[in-house]
Amino acid sequence: MAFITFEGIEGSGKTTQIRLLLAWLGEQKQRVLHTREPGGTAIGDRIRAILLDPAHTEMTPEAEILLYSAARAQIVREVIRPHLEQEWIVICDRYYDSTLAYQGYGHGLPLDDLRRITQFATGGLTPDLTLYLDLDPEIGLRRKAQTPEEWTRFERKELEYHRRVREGYLHLAAQEPRRWLVLDANRPPELIQQDIRARVEALLNRNRAEKHR
Ligand code: TYD
Repeated sequence: MAFITFEGIEGSGKTTQIRLLLAWLGEQKQRVLHTREPGGTAIGDRIRAILLDPAHTEMTPEAEILLYSAARAQIVREVIRPHLEQEWIVICDRYYDSTLAYQGYGHGLPLDDLRRITQFATGGLTPDLTLYLDLDPEIGLRRKAQTPEEWTRFERKELEYHRRVREGYLHLAAQEPRRWLVLDANRPPELIQQDIRARVEALLNRNRAEKHR
C-alpha cells in the first residue's frame, strides 16, 4: 500500500508522467487506483464543475478553498482511505499541496488557516510520496497554449501568479524533503519517468519490508 500524489503547475507534464507510471505499475499487476482533484467522486465532480466554470468570476478565494476542501473530504473517506486499507496503491493527481501552493502562496491566503482546513478535510491523511514536476511557468503556460493567440491571453499577471505558485511548491518541498521528490520537468519525459520509477520502487520495497516485519 502506498499513497502517492503528483503536483506541478499547468503544462508541467503531470498527465504524461501519471500515464507512464500507471502503465508500469499495471505491468507488475499491482492494484492501482488513480484519482484526480478536484473530482473523483460524484459529489467531487459536481464541485469541480463549479470551481472550473469560467462564468463564476465572483468566486472568492475563501469560497474556492472550502469547495476544494469539501471535494477532498469526500474523496478521502469515500475512495482513498478504503483503497489504502485494502492495500492498493493510490495515485492522486493533485492533493492538499495544491491548495497550499495555489490558494496560499499564489493567492496569499494565510497558510496557517489553510493547513487547519486541510487537516480537517483530510483527517490528517498525508501522502507517502509527492512527485513534484518543477518547471518555469513561462515554459509551462506556453506548452498549454496551443496557439499564439491563446498565449496572449496569459497576461503578465497570470505568469506572476504561477511564479508564486512555483516558489510555494519549492518551499513546501524543502520543508519535507523525505516526502517530496522535486523533478526537473524541463527534460525528456522518459528521463523524468526513470527518476519517478526508481523512487516509487524504493517506496514499495520499503513498505513491503515493513509489512513483513
Ligand atoms: P485541471 O484542469 O485539473 O488542471 P491540471 O491538469 O493542471 O491539474 O485544473 C485544476 C486547477 O485547479 C489547477 O489550475 C490547479 C487548481 N487547484 C487549486 O487551485 N487548488 C487545489 O486545491 C486544487 C486541487 C487545484
